[in-house]
Amino acid sequence: MANVNGTTLSSSPAPGASASSARTTTIAAIGQHVDQRVMLRGWLYNLRASGKLLFPIFRDGTGTIQGIVPKAEVPEPVFETLKSLTLESSLTVTGRVRADHRAPSGFELDVEDLSVIQRVPEETPYPIQLKEAGVDFLMEHRHLWIRTPRQSAILRVRATIMRAAAEYFDTHGFTRTDPPILTPNACEGTSELFEMDYFDDGKAYLTQSGQLYMEATAMALGRVYSFGPTFRAEKSKTRRHLTEFWMIEPEVTYMDLDGLMHLAECFLTHIVRRVLELHTPDLKTIGKDVTKLEAVIAGAATEDKGECKGAGSGFPRLSYDQAHAMLIDAHQRGLLETVHRYGDDFGSPDETYISSQFAKPVMVHRYPAEVKAFYMQPDPLDPSKALCVDVLAPEGYGEIIGGSQRVDDYDLLERRIRAHNLPMAAFQWYLDLRRYGSVPHSGFGMGIERCVAWICGLEHVRETIPFARTLNRIYP
Ligand code: 4AD
Ligand code: MG
Repeated sequence: MANVNGTTLSSSPAPGASASSARTTTIAAIGQHVDQRVMLRGWLYNLRASGKLLFPIFRDGTGTIQGIVPKAEVPEPVFETLKSLTLESSLTVTGRVRADHRAPSGFELDVEDLSVIQRVPEETPYPIQLKEAGVDFLMEHRHLWIRTPRQSAILRVRATIMRAAAEYFDTHGFTRTDPPILTPNACEGTSELFEMDYFDDGKAYLTQSGQLYMEATAMALGRVYSFGPTFRAEKSKTRRHLTEFWMIEPEVTYMDLDGLMHLAECFLTHIVRRVLELHTPDLKTIGKDVTKLEAVIAGAATEDKGECKGAGSGFPRLSYDQAHAMLIDAHQRGLLETVHRYGDDFGSPDETYISSQFAKPVMVHRYPAEVKAFYMQPDPLDPSKALCVDVLAPEGYGEIIGGSQRVDDYDLLERRIRAHNLPMAAFQWYLDLRRYGSVPHSGFGMGIERCVAWICGLEHVRETIPFARTLNRIYP
């Protein structure tokens, strides 16, 4: 492929007079090449012209950088090609890196040469322009929308959240065990199941949570976790609900609710710390106020030495009763429109209000057993309450983690299965866990997308996953 300057393009080292001494690099690593000649491989993200000067912005998947192209200083074909180049055309560009504290990234590129790989035809211009487009249009073009710097930054933060989440368990004695995705029964309520035909066995369902299987692997291995896609045929059209989302679920034997809350606190502290370490520039691109995240880990020990001791940063804990009282008080003071009815689960506005009262995630524990899942252990001090916890993220983000101590008594579990009208035959293997060496155990699940929405400060979970699946969207 011929480049604009009349030389030939191949993979590095790039031949041709102007490119010969240029090192191929990425925009993320450009700071290591100040005053050197580099080659970038990417796309034309934006182009501004001002008389005899062109200001292209290039992107390469790791970031964006502005180029400067003075007509008098580059070969004419370079200037002319760039001047009429369509947005998102793919290209390689060679130039000299200059540190410039006024540039958003801190660097600019004095362009010397470029080579167009594919020119976007004028007749079919890139549909996503830099000006505002409606969310429906953007979601319809999600495969292209993810190229914009803000969306790319979110996906990078998501990747780090997923890595940090797994890393926490990997370094704290947990074994990752993968539960099946095709399951014979429900875990979290039968009304939200995706159903399918399964050969001669009748029906199968996409998993809502790996929890029940994690309880089995925990009895084999002690501390386990799973990490994978989960599915809810949710009919809810909210900013928090997806029909397909990723959940990470630890399960630990001989752990009670207190231990579980401590684990959740250490786990979230680790994730926030990693994101702050690695993504402060991305968070700036996204528009997140990082002081809000710094407040979450304030006071946390810097190292938890693999034991999750003293590593937490003091997340507030509220019982359901205390949270209820807080909501009633807020209503009476005119801060909350709705009136929370004692005994009911919290609605979105309730969770939003509670979480907005704290700078750190708040752990609400001991909900009425009636509004919670069948497998939750009753509180011995008040059996009408479940030994469960919902972790509500700050800034009004609401529930990101749900967990509990599990029923470990055979007879009680059997009664619960019956009372919830669940098919007893499908749960025999689960009951076996209480037949053969039952022990107290606890676990939780965190939805990655809820966590990303909170950490990045996003209004809607649809931007937290490359291709969101919601009630009314399965394209692209
Ligand atoms: O509270 P949930 O339903 O709990 C469970 O599934 C337990 N079996 C987990 C366990 O104890 N191992 O879901 C756990 C988390 C929620 O706190 C939320 O973060 C996320 O999963 N989640 C969703 N995220 C996006 N869209 C949805 N429709 C979600 N439903 C739950
Ligand atoms: Mg929940």
